[in-house]
Amino acid sequence: MRDASSMTEKGETILRLNNISKNFGAVSALTDIDLEVRAGEVVALVGDNGAGKSTLVKVLAGVHQPSSGTIEFMGNQVTLDSPGTALQLGIATVFQDLALCENLDVVANLFLGHEMSPWSLDEVAMEVRAWTLLRELAARIPSVREPIASLSGGQRQTVAIARSLLLDPKIIMLDEPTAALGVAQTAEVLNLIERVRDRGLGVIIISHNMEDVRAVADRIVVLRLGRNNGVFTPDASNQELVASITGATENSVSRRMERKSGQSNEISGRPA
Ligand SMILES: Nc1ncnc2c1ncn2[C@@H]1O[C@H](COP(=O)(O)OP(=O)(O)OP(=O)(O)O)[C@@H](O)[C@H]1O
Ligand SMILES: [Mg+2]
Repeated sequence: MRDASSMTEKGETILRLNNISKNFGAVSALTDIDLEVRAGEVVALVGDNGAGKSTLVKVLAGVHQPSSGTIEFMGNQVTLDSPGTALQLGIATVFQDLALCENLDVVANLFLGHEMSPWSLDEVAMEVRAWTLLRELAARIPSVREPIASLSGGQRQTVAIARSLLLDPKIIMLDEPTAALGVAQTAEVLNLIERVRDRGLGVIIISHNMEDVRAVADRIVVLRLGRNNGVFTPDASNQELVASITGATENSVSRRMERKSGQSNEISGRPA
């Protein structure tokens, strides 16, 4: 647990990326990326396939080392040389595959890999901590002794998010948390993200679903071909977002949208 002196104020900058680039051989996955994440805000990272979203998350998770640029965490320049370093600093990641163990129950999954934590050897304390955390998150899990295999996609996502909160991170990154979910489960996960934000964390969410992004994000950051290509508030129009994501106002998706809205204008404008 972190002490009160390290508590973050809402709106305080937790993370700042300056000119981050990442090359894989001849491939420039990221070029001069700037990004800021503050306490108590949800930043959505959007962009087309191959835009560099996952690479950016992996840089912040300590999986990939940037080729150049700097990362500041709580005002100090840091080197995220391993996933352990990122976690210890307070940057938690829920990867798309969730990395849960099907045959183990919710408690076991929550504490898996957290062997350093003070609760890990005490089954009762672990179960109490699991219940407390899930209750705080208002998570709908039938029983913490239920194996993961019997949970729904949304419940699994909830367990994975709860798990990442156990080490009291300041930032949590979610890669496509609603991609495989139905309507009700998506709503539940979006509610959960809001509760995580309300705890004062900075949240980075990757999503291809503009409706989800708009529903939960305070800021929408667009990447295109590995570069920053615009920052939007959730009231931006679909057309603006699509144009920024695809890099053109004149493109197949927006043309299609224009054609459709043109059609409806014609219909409504037709004399009776
Ligand atoms: N380990 C790697 N080695 C080589 N190239 C990579 C590697 N990881 C990513 N890339 C390349 O970097 C670019 C960005 O990929 P990335 O996975 O970050 O995109 P993305 O925005 O997450 O896409 P998607 O929406 O499809 O998940 C792509 O051109 C990809 O081929
Ligand atoms: Mg990706």
